[in-house]
Amino acid sequence: MKVSQALESRMSVRAFTDQQVPVGTVKKVLEKAARSPSGSNLQPWRMVILTPEKLAKLNALMEKRLSGEANVNGDAQEYNIHPEKLKEPYRTSRYEVGEDMYALLGISRDEKPKRLEWFANNFKFFGAPAAAFCFVDRTMGQPQWSDLGMYLQSVMLLFQEEGIDTCPQECWAMYPKTIHEFCDMPDELMLFCGMAIGYKDKNHPVNNLKTKRLYSSEWLKVL
Ligand SMILES: Cc1cc2nc3c(=O)[nH]c(=O)nc-3n(C[C@H](O)[C@H](O)[C@H](O)COP(=O)(O)O)c2cc1C
Repeated sequence: MKVSQALESRMSVRAFTDQQVPVGTVKKVLEKAARSPSGSNLQPWRMVILTPEKLAKLNALMEKRLSGEANVNGDAQEYNIHPEKLKEPYRTSRYEVGEDMYALLGISRDEKPKRLEWFANNFKFFGAPAAAFCFVDRTMGQPQWSDLGMYLQSVMLLFQEEGIDTCPQECWAMYPKTIHEFCDMPDELMLFCGMAIGYKDKNHPVNNLKTKRLYSSEWLKVL
């Protein structure tokens, strides 16, 4: 597969089949992606792979958490997922991707409970059979966080090469303490995001979402 094919075919998949992804395959891809560049070669990504047993345990824990049996609120957040006030054109991009997704799911704007119910699928990795978390040392700054992005894009493209789909998930930043404890990580590390990993359910309408992109004239200047 050409890089351009992997780039074109990758999309955030939010419904998966039951087909398993061996832990060995996930490990191989995460290791291969470590050829990604990073400033001064710091390689700041710190990854956790969940085995099927651990994934089942986390799914059960999150179900309890969200059902109100335990604390339904998220943990104290450790970073802002978005700037507090999103300005244009970012605001519209965010709005459009949400509206386009809910339209495919047949959920209208005023069906708040249904939207929340759908959103909660994030916390079982949308039914994916495999999952990973990305952590970073708390002392790292913006340049190293951008290195995480490069690494994670390599991971997602390498999964495409294997015919495996993904969804990066920063929603997990709503539960940093829960995930930190669950993964038994040292204090010096903080959670960036999760990633759902598996095979796309081609019959699920949510996977028909073809997200838009801005015209390059909005973000590119040729001098
Ligand atoms: C760092 C990162 C975090 C994301 N977090 C979530 C998430 O929590 N839940 C979700 O459904 N999608 C999440 N996404 C997917 C984005 O919504 C998606 O990448 C964007 O809309 C573009 O669509 P595409 O990935 O299908 O090209 C995330 C993407 C990135 C890069």
